[in-house]
Amino acid sequence: MKLEVVNLNVKYDAEDARRALRGVTFSLSDGERVALLGANGAGKSTLLLTLVGVVHPESGEVAIDNAITTKDTLRHLRSKVGMAFQNPDDQLFMPSLYEDVAFGPRNYGVSEPEIADRANAVLTQLGISHLRERMTHRLSGGEKRLAALAGILVMEPSVLLMDEPTSFLDGRSRRRLIEILRGLPQAMLIATHDIALASELCGRTILLQEGQVRADGDTKTILADAALLDECGL
Ligand SMILES: Nc1ncnc2c1ncn2[C@@H]1O[C@H](COP(=O)(O)OP(=O)(O)OP(=O)(O)O)[C@@H](O)[C@H]1O
Ligand SMILES: [Mg+2]
Repeated sequence: MKLEVVNLNVKYDAEDARRALRGVTFSLSDGERVALLGANGAGKSTLLLTLVGVVHPESGEVAIDNAITTKDTLRHLRSKVGMAFQNPDDQLFMPSLYEDVAFGPRNYGVSEPEIADRANAVLTQLGISHLRERMTHRLSGGEKRLAALAGILVMEPSVLLMDEPTSFLDGRSRRRLIEILRGLPQAMLIATHDIALASELCGRTILLQEGQVRADGDTKTILADAALLDECGL
């Protein structure tokens, strides 16, 4: 698996002189775990949303395994790339937690017994199996976060994109999530303000500043550069 992003430019408003992303270029290889850091408004969510085709770039390309993403290949892309949105309410829509988790694999034709096996395993792993019959819109913020992550992990995608996966989580759930992610083979791009998560989990960091890649390299080196972090508003 290889995800390649070439010279991505995103503008939300045609009249707006400002771009949310400017010339963003990088690639993500098999099994790599990359932290996506940057101040509020730096473009982290925009980048993740562009990678899954929710936001359309003004120019630039996203390619997975050398196949450039177009409108026609979005379904294929989405079968390989799992995205957890910054706001779990944007993701949960089935009445019960179990139905929500089962929805993705069902949509891709996975058999019912396998769906049940996979969903139960993921719910247990995340420590939320006791919530399986609960209504998703009545879950707490942290429970919703875990429910949304379950819906992604159950798909077993090749690449995981996560937008603030530890927001709303208490200490124990956060720790459990970090351990789960550490044990997964997938490549990951994790937008986060959780610096400890970045340094524990991600060998590589991409630092965004006002829509541009300001730094891309070793997480420890980037996090040790106080002047750089300060300039980037962190
Ligand atoms: N739907 C939208 N329409 C217009 N502008 C938007 C939209 N979404 C985001 N923006 C703008 O694009 C820029 C990048 O926003 P983005 O949400 O990608 O930042 P972020 O790095 O994820 O920030 P945060 O850390 O607060 O989540 C910001 O200036 C934001 O105001
Ligand atoms: Mg964001």
